[in-house]
Amino acid sequence: MLEYVDIIYGASYGDEGKGKISAMHAKNYDYVCRFNGGSNAGHTFYVGDKKVITHIVPSGIAFGKKSIIGPNCVLCIEDFFNELAELDRLNFDTSLVKVSPKAHIVTKKHKEQDINTFAVTLGTTAKGIGPCYSEKALRTGLRAEEILPKQYLWDEKLSGKVLCEGAQSFWLDINYGSYPYVTSSECLPYGACSLGFSPKKIRYIAAVAKMYDTRAGTDPYFDLDDDETKLVAYLGNEFGTTTGRARKVKWLNLDKLKYALEIGGAEQLYLNKGDILEKANVFKLYYDNELVTFKTMDDMKSFITEKIENVIVMFHFEE
Ligand code: IMP
Repeated sequence: MLEYVDIIYGASYGDEGKGKISAMHAKNYDYVCRFNGGSNAGHTFYVGDKKVITHIVPSGIAFGKKSIIGPNCVLCIEDFFNELAELDRLNFDTSLVKVSPKAHIVTKKHKEQDINTFAVTLGTTAKGIGPCYSEKALRTGLRAEEILPKQYLWDEKLSGKVLCEGAQSFWLDINYGSYPYVTSSECLPYGACSLGFSPKKIRYIAAVAKMYDTRAGTDPYFDLDDDETKLVAYLGNEFGTTTGRARKVKWLNLDKLKYALEIGGAEQLYLNKGDILEKANVFKLYYDNELVTFKTMDDMKSFITEKIENVIVMFHFEE
């Protein structure tokens, strides 16, 4: 029987450290599931001193948990098997990884279309995501059940305690994000129900953001690029895990973050990478459309805690 579902989602533009937070909690669950996207994501976390990077496989794999790639995910067969081979090399039990028969397959043609068109016009990750989801919507797509060997297919039954790990984030969500500079899937907790459970089963929702905003890919909102934001980008090592692209930095927008918490239904917020602002010795954010500057990190933290009501804010400082 399915006991309950907890969900972790990104409240910004991706790259907030969701992988690290879900890896911290994975051991408490029976299943860890991905509910959206494909190998456009990049989750980095450590198990002891082993650095693990996954793009499509949920972080639960590193903790011996059943790791599900859901029906609303898209799967590039080549990337998937390369990732399994790397996880095997790290001695994780990859027989726990299962893919929904309904997940759609990213083909070579999807990737070519993305590389030649949307990577140029929209700054996508060039992983074939948009073209694959558009074929799904056209109902001409190829599903995992048609080509993936049986042992990789999921029986689509969840039981016990389930953790859902969001990929991409609020402002990249196909419905709520800064369209058209978004990804092609639903990145918010509502999207997790595509895994096949009732919304009534959701017990707890946590969001993840950073103490500054970053953006991989095109977005006119990220217009500012001065010496201070460049310093934060450098100190924060803000380069894409999937594409290696430099990410643009903008000061945290508390108005946008509050909206992302409200619509996502977060009860808790992990706010990462405050250590980077401390190293840069710059403490700024946008609130009520104004830039607010603080003298110290403690002042900035108190301000954030005061303005974000009804959500428990946890500050995570280490890189
Ligand atoms: P796509 O998902 O490859 O189509 O890219 C659409 C937009 O989402 C682009 O701006 C990408 O840079 C961004 N994006 C997609 N996945 C991620 C991610 O995991 N982290 C950050 N940005 C992402």
